Amino acid sequence: MEILIDSANLESIRELNDLYPIDGVTTNPTIVVKEKRTFLPLLKEIQSIIGEEKMLFAQVLGEQAEDMVKEASYLNEEINGNFYVKIPVTDEGIKAIKLLKLQGIKTLATTIYTPLQAFIAAKAGAEYVAPYVNRIDNLAGNGVQVVSDIIKIFEHHHLPCKVLAASFKNTQQVHHVCLEGAHGVTAAPEIIKSFTAHPSTETNVRQFMNEWKSFYGESSNSIIKKN
Ligand code: E4P
Repeated sequence: MEILIDSANLESIRELNDLYPIDGVTTNPTIVVKEKRTFLPLLKEIQSIIGEEKMLFAQVLGEQAEDMVKEASYLNEEINGNFYVKIPVTDEGIKAIKLLKLQGIKTLATTIYTPLQAFIAAKAGAEYVAPYVNRIDNLAGNGVQVVSDIIKIFEHHHLPCKVLAASFKNTQQVHHVCLEGAHGVTAAPEIIKSFTAHPSTETNVRQFMNEWKSFYGESSNSIIKKN
């Protein structure tokens, strides 16, 4: 199962990529605008941090399929490595996904709210779909259930498309999409950091250290013997 950072903040990406087994970075226009930087150099800097093997996702802005295809081709030429274009799952978006598949450009269908949107995007040739779990929950829907239904549809119909669950407000949502068999999650840095945070873990670690020091001495904080 893949873990992606949903951010364009270089400091956070550097920190998380260093600490955790990160598979890549997803961005969207809102995330990019927050950084107040020129778009392409920002994407290139993100890629220089994570490396060309890890996945990088960026979204097009065009509303007509032809414009989306032009933007996607431009980005795909400019960005080396393991790059994916995010295409919103509108009718024109589906058409763009079909055209980009023919050109060999990898896509992720984004802004997914229903299983059938995911189904049609996968059939059009998207490599990934991104259901918006928390935004679905906010509309009194059930984001985890949508993820689960999409996975079932892809399995039943042998669609070679991965479900990258997106839009999380808490770790419980992430936990549940993991249980449902999502192929990946993309989450904001603070959500990813909370995967490991637990006060009892910190208390235990402190306790181990205190007990060690009470026998071996205050200055002893490593099992490696100092000369
Ligand atoms: C992913 O493709 C989306 O950009 C993202 O997960 C949306 O998350 P949000 O609902 O927290 O903005």
